[in-house]
Amino acid sequence: MPTMSEAMRTMFQTNSETARETAPESDAGFLWDFWYPAVRSAEIRGQKLVTAMLLEVPLVLGRTSDGKAFAMRDSCPHRGIPLSYGRLDGEIVECCYHGWRFDACSGRCVEIPSLTSQDKLKVERIFAGHYPCEERDGYVWVYMSSSSRTASDTSRGRVGADDEPGSRPLGTLPAAPALAVFSEKYKIIHLSCELPSHVDQGIIGLMDPAHGPFVHQSWFWRKRASIHEKAKQFEPIPNGFRMSPHQPSANSAPYRLLAKMTGEPVTTTIDFVLPNLRTEIDRSGKLWFSSRATVTPVRRDLCRIDFVAAWNVPLPVAIFRPFAKKFLRQDQLTMIQQAEGLKYNPHLMLIDDADRQAKWYFALKANLLESRRTGAPMVHPMTGPVALRWRS
Ligand code: FES
Ligand SMILES: [Fe+2]
Repeated sequence: MPTMSEAMRTMFQTNSETARETAPESDAGFLWDFWYPAVRSAEIRGQKLVTAMLLEVPLVLGRTSDGKAFAMRDSCPHRGIPLSYGRLDGEIVECCYHGWRFDACSGRCVEIPSLTSQDKLKVERIFAGHYPCEERDGYVWVYMSSSSRTASDTSRGRVGADDEPGSRPLGTLPAAPALAVFSEKYKIIHLSCELPSHVDQGIIGLMDPAHGPFVHQSWFWRKRASIHEKAKQFEPIPNGFRMSPHQPSANSAPYRLLAKMTGEPVTTTIDFVLPNLRTEIDRSGKLWFSSRATVTPVRRDLCRIDFVAAWNVPLPVAIFRPFAKKFLRQDQLTMIQQAEGLKYNPHLMLIDDADRQAKWYFALKANLLESRRTGAPMVHPMTGPVALRWRS
């Protein structure tokens, strides 16, 4: 008669093959092997386990007793119950179902309470799915590595997996993104909002210059009547493009005010970099304002904007926050309305030049995937600097 563990192993192998055949992850249009912000740093404290979802992967996050943030797949490799129903005890996450214990920072199983001295199961070869984790600018960033994905699929189904999730040394990963700051003292705010759409729609909405006068009409920003023709210079940068340093729109009150305060011109540089980062740096003399918006895929029908801004301009947080909130809310409402239309799979258009940045985004994404597939260097969709013209 086969032992219990042999029977289970057979069953798991079958299950794991089924799981891999039906895994839909590859066609959701997500970019793997990048850092994404999962939760705010302040949300994980004490013994609390917090859940998040990135790229349709359920995660459980927490902090070990020495303060290190960790992220595991929110699924016990034994029967799949979310580990977030279990408990965190210093360095160990314990599953609520059969009490299997996992090292929070590596996902490695350290104890299976039901085993007897007769059992030969190698506990240390079992892993819960595990993702690299770093904190920057008040966010917990999680590196959504496709190898962790494979490994966690493996550990979900197979006892004695040979590729170990979390075994890729952190040293080989790029650093998590960090907001540029230009003085020791500054103010900082964080805002976020969810958009009921695919990350691609969120991103092209973020970089779309033509909606401003319609969606963001307000006295402090710009009015519909103020629409005028603009020409902006763009240049290619690695994995993205830059709106070359320029003097920002003269019809925006905040920029006029900044120039008045320093007596020096304001320069604005706006970058977009894959997978999802838009950064803007405004500088005038010693004064600066730096912001970053990321659009992070949660599910294929849901994404989240995380906006962080830091500055040393004399602007109280209490004044800036409501304006920024209103701005984001205007975008969110528009995307909620857009999602209504997108339900019916309409044909869409991207026009020159106002939608050229959206075209670059899609081309960057496609070319990156192609270069990962072939191993050849990535082809940048821009061959050099180019001026775009639009009215906004
Ligand atoms: S399901 Fe987690 S220990 Fe059994
Ligand atoms: Fe907007």
